[in-house]
Amino acid sequence: MSKLHGKVAIITGGAGGIGKGIATAFVKEGARVAIVDLNAEAGHKTIKELQEFQPESIFIQANLMEHDNIAGIVKQVGETFGKIDILVNNAHASKMASIEVTTQKELDLSFNTGFYPTFYFMQAALPYLKDTKGKIINFASGAGINGDVNQGSYAAAKEAIRGITRVAANEFGPFGINVNIISPIAKSEGMLQWAEANPEYYQGMLSKIPLRRLGEIESDIGRVAVFLASEDSDYITGQTIMVDGGSIKLR
Ligand SMILES: NC(=O)c1ccc[n+]([C@@H]2O[C@H](COP(=O)([O-])OP(=O)(O)OC[C@H]3O[C@@H](n4cnc5c(N)ncnc54)[C@H](O)[C@@H]3O)[C@@H](O)[C@H]2O)c1
Repeated sequence: MSKLHGKVAIITGGAGGIGKGIATAFVKEGARVAIVDLNAEAGHKTIKELQEFQPESIFIQANLMEHDNIAGIVKQVGETFGKIDILVNNAHASKMASIEVTTQKELDLSFNTGFYPTFYFMQAALPYLKDTKGKIINFASGAGINGDVNQGSYAAAKEAIRGITRVAANEFGPFGINVNIISPIAKSEGMLQWAEANPEYYQGMLSKIPLRRLGEIESDIGRVAVFLASEDSDYITGQTIMVDGGSIKLR
């Protein structure tokens, strides 16, 4: 039996990068997915690929900075499929800047695409996840855990996501809902663009990965997401799972 047979998943930022890797791993394990993304062109292309495995999967074009629309997106997915089992809060956009020169605009970009959507998607999906004893996967970053330079706005939003994830694990645990975090390093479009723009920073990061390679979006990150979305992880909640080639060892 496939690990996610009959399950319904929402994946934000699912048109490309890690979100696409997770969506692909999920449909191959039998889940129907709703990918939610700003990028219409990539979304339409990705959903065609996903429908090869799960024809009922859907793409919803949305800007997650418009928080008022999030409850409607969750409702649309719930009505389309009759339930929601898995929520993956993966989308996040940010710009690097030192604290000295960071503006409100950069703080808003990071919090409005990362923290607030994660919060409001969890809130809106909760009634559905109570029904299914569902699973939530949120996203952190080594940049936040380490406090990397020039990552103030990004690190702050990522650590806020870790904070709210622990609260959600405590609040939702009694309903049988698991809430965990992946902190990845992976060869996504976003990572490759960032590497090109910041070659020295990128080389420094690469040299600190014990396994000496970037993760693959589907086979490395997607497979861990399958584990966290499946009953195999039923007794794990509130945890940050480092899927980063060994870069950070949490204690
Ligand atoms: N790639 C890495 O190595 C790495 C490292 C640490 C953390 N992360 C985290 O993993 C997650 C995925 O990262 P990635 O590298 O695949 O990112 P990415 O930039 O490659 O892809 C992000 C996706 O989110 C979508 N998106 C961006 N802004 C949006 C908005 N306002 N509304 C809707 N969709 C929007 C983009 O269109 C894109 O499809 C993020 O939370 C990121 O912070 C990634």
